[in-house]
Amino acid sequence: MRVNFAVRQMQFKDVPAVLAIERQSFGMPWTRQMFEDEVHQVLAWRQVAQNDSEGVAGFLLGREYPDAWHLMDLAVAPRARRRGAADSLVAAFVATADQAERPVFLEVRPKNAEAMALYEKWGFTAVGLRKRYYTDTGEDALVMMRPVGAAGPGAGDPGAAGAARGGIDGRRRLRGPLLAIESSCDDSSAAVLSPDGDVLSNVVHSQDAIHERYGGVVPEVASRAHVERMTAVVREALAQAGAGATDLGGVAVTVGPGLIGALLVGVQTAKAIAWAHRLPLFPVNHLHGHLAAVWLADHDAPLPMVTLVASGGHTSLVGVDDWTSFRLLGQTLDDAAGEAFDKGARLLGLGYPGGRELDRLAEEGDPKAFAFPVALKRSPRPDFSFSGVKTALFYLLRDMSAEERAARAADVAASYREAIVEALVSKSVKAAKAEGARSLGVAGGVAANSLLRRRLVERGEAAGLHVVVPPFAYCTDNAAMIGAAALAGPSLPYPDYLDVDPSASLPLGRWSTLPDSHP
Ligand code: KG4
Ligand code: ZN
Repeated sequence: MRVNFAVRQMQFKDVPAVLAIERQSFGMPWTRQMFEDEVHQVLAWRQVAQNDSEGVAGFLLGREYPDAWHLMDLAVAPRARRRGAADSLVAAFVATADQAERPVFLEVRPKNAEAMALYEKWGFTAVGLRKRYYTDTGEDALVMMRPVGAAGPGAGDPGAAGAARGGIDGRRRLRGPLLAIESSCDDSSAAVLSPDGDVLSNVVHSQDAIHERYGGVVPEVASRAHVERMTAVVREALAQAGAGATDLGGVAVTVGPGLIGALLVGVQTAKAIAWAHRLPLFPVNHLHGHLAAVWLADHDAPLPMVTLVASGGHTSLVGVDDWTSFRLLGQTLDDAAGEAFDKGARLLGLGYPGGRELDRLAEEGDPKAFAFPVALKRSPRPDFSFSGVKTALFYLLRDMSAEERAARAADVAASYREAIVEALVSKSVKAAKAEGARSLGVAGGVAANSLLRRRLVERGEAAGLHVVVPPFAYCTDNAAMIGAAALAGPSLPYPDYLDVDPSASLPLGRWSTLPDSHP
């Protein structure tokens, strides 16, 4: 019997019912605290399915990240199973993700055939494994992904993307300077690099001033701003490098991950320039770009290396065995480190984006004034979690008077920064040692954090590692790092790249998404 379930926002009062369903459904249930935290989460998707006679019958928790949405927890009370509650919850989530143009990711136990069948029905396909993800049994998690607009129940192939083509031929083939373009988020950037990787120009047009009034990046506004500026930014980069478009040896461009509308602008610009001048195109994964910032700073850092990539959208530890093979060692389970800084700054009433302001204020405070939790401190896994520290800040400030908040702002900022940086540094050094790495690198906007820079050098060197902290300009989003990654990556000859599409969710290790059927 299928009963209609209405889907509505989860509220604080629903926590006991939700917790009961969770405990009936999973051997390793989430705690009450975790659910209570979710109710306060700004980015959380939290809905319950209910009908009048039975009350809450199931729930779905997700997160709306900038690059992709994450289905974190879905459970239905045993009495209500196979009656459409799960379908109603998934339908609402994926329909909204489609509207937002976000793919959806989730982890599932490979033995949970019923759950996998449900997700497959909704257009998810298996895209990878997370080793020993489930700490109770040591089981691997199957990672499933649903592309934007994937078919729903009853329909066919959701159209998974195939492997990238091309060899690692960039450096040998390049006959002139490389133009690189980056537009994955809110910075329009173009750079020119010599075939040897010298940065001849690196022009970045930040959109911070545009998005400030909204307190976050508005994707449609970002896309439009890229359209308006990109041509001028490219011209300026060529002019500063003293190069004309006819001198170029190739064009590199970020094809993902990022905001799809923003990526499109860079990809179309790069294709047009490359096609008009019959040049090869170098598709670049934005994350490979961040990793290449370390190469720009130090070509000779001994490999293998472990690099911490920490930005507003990502917080990962990546094993770099050579400049074309990358392994994801661990990542944040919830918020990115930059997000934690930005949200902390917002709670403290600082500007946007607040990471830098919080850092500045923290320099004047006492990092031992307040004890914030350092998440996953004792876990051996190289993963991060920053939602707890943010919640702790929320409660700390809530319980302070306005005068106290003003008087202690620097101490609060210093203590908050201490907890985040301590997690980043200790996990990074531990992962580098565990991997037998010779170098430790850092990249992404959060690498601008002054305490992180100091402490990573201090602790990394004490552990016998060669530590590379790139200059600020290569840490935040910029096209020079995209060009540097391209010089080691694959290229597509003229005019084969016209069907290269950007991908909001391009995974680490992939340079582009071309259909399998492509020659
Ligand atoms: O790499 P990025 O420019 O853009 C993304 O790809 O996200 O990183 C921006 C992030 C923002 O969250 C910003 O607040 C953070 O980097 N950030 C900082 C600092 N400067 C920038 N976080 C902490 N301390 C800083 N000094
Ligand atoms: Zn970035």
